[in-house]
Amino acid sequence: MTNEAFVTLVTNDSYAKGALVWGQSLRNCGTTKKLVIMIGYKPEPPLQAVMEKTFDELVYVSLMDSGDTTRLALMARPELGVTFTKLQCWTLTHYTKCVFMDADTLVVENIDDLFEREEFSAAPDVGWPDMFNTGVFVYKPSMETYGKLLELAKSEGSFDGGDQGLLNAYFSDWAFKDITKRLPFIYNMAANLTYSYLPALLRFGTEVKVVHFLGQSKPWNFGYSAESDNVYGGSMADNMFQTTKPFIRTWWKVYNHNVEPLFEKKPEGSVDVPEYPKSSAPVSSETNGSEGGKASGAATPDQWERGDINYTGSDRFHNIQRHLDAMIYKNANDY
Ligand code: UDP
Ligand code: GLC
Ligand code: MN
Repeated sequence: MTNEAFVTLVTNDSYAKGALVWGQSLRNCGTTKKLVIMIGYKPEPPLQAVMEKTFDELVYVSLMDSGDTTRLALMARPELGVTFTKLQCWTLTHYTKCVFMDADTLVVENIDDLFEREEFSAAPDVGWPDMFNTGVFVYKPSMETYGKLLELAKSEGSFDGGDQGLLNAYFSDWAFKDITKRLPFIYNMAANLTYSYLPALLRFGTEVKVVHFLGQSKPWNFGYSAESDNVYGGSMADNMFQTTKPFIRTWWKVYNHNVEPLFEKKPEGSVDVPEYPKSSAPVSSETNGSEGGKASGAATPDQWERGDINYTGSDRFHNIQRHLDAMIYKNANDY
């Protein structure tokens, strides 16, 4: 008998928000797998109640921290030592196979086919594509593997101070041994780095299955107005923000539509719940887009190279946004 689960991790309220959106996004995409959240702190009772409604299993774990401030400083992410806690996902041996996903990921299309892959499958990291990114990976729970990972952590540490350095050292033949373990980028698309290759975003954006809000700026650090469908605030360079915005918008729509209503009383600082009809996608305030998902009338390669890109006109990400909305709300009727 197989028993398969998607697994995530949270150690504080901010990432918990991310995990709730992640869980709902998987359900909106019609997953048939179990949803598991590993929790490394004590959430307040109202939040815990919402976690119980959202996930099939809550697993309390103790915090593990690499404490490697020197290497973490290289990434300017001192908070990521705690991602060693992620390694405990190997202890969930009541599941035969799992897919771990960071709490800052958003699923926009069904990804249950990932369970056809074997340990250790992951997508390339955008910072160094011969390494994999540990925001999404397929693995097989095993106390033996867990023990070996801890041994390696003790003897060598992690070269980035977080789980990604350690796991890349452990599964070190990933880049060249077995191509089936290299997941396509659409299963772990780094939202904030799409500005670096815009033509690819326009060409493949509608095929994306998982958006990963990698980096310091997370969707929950931005504001969102449902009324104007506008994302604001945060601290992101403008060129990065332009291309990340549609994905942040989609994240907030799932938060407002699927997560916020689960809290009996509105948490402080939350935004208004928009009144979307249950079966239809919210309508964007940008109304002059072409139908059908794929971008049309976009700039020519020449114009792209000159930097002559009309973000608010023909080259806007409206079409990608429409596709994201359509996918995420396809199954919303069931919830
Ligand atoms: N995480 C957490 N608390 C923290 C930092 C990280 O729970 O303080 C978990 C969470 O699941 C998060 C993952 O570890 O998604 C990896 O961290 P993050 O996504 O911030 O790293 P990035 O993808 O930005 O490199
Ligand atoms: C990364 C990954 C994240 C991981 C962190 C620390 O860039 O996206 O999943 O936890 O580095 O290694
Ligand atoms: Mn992440």
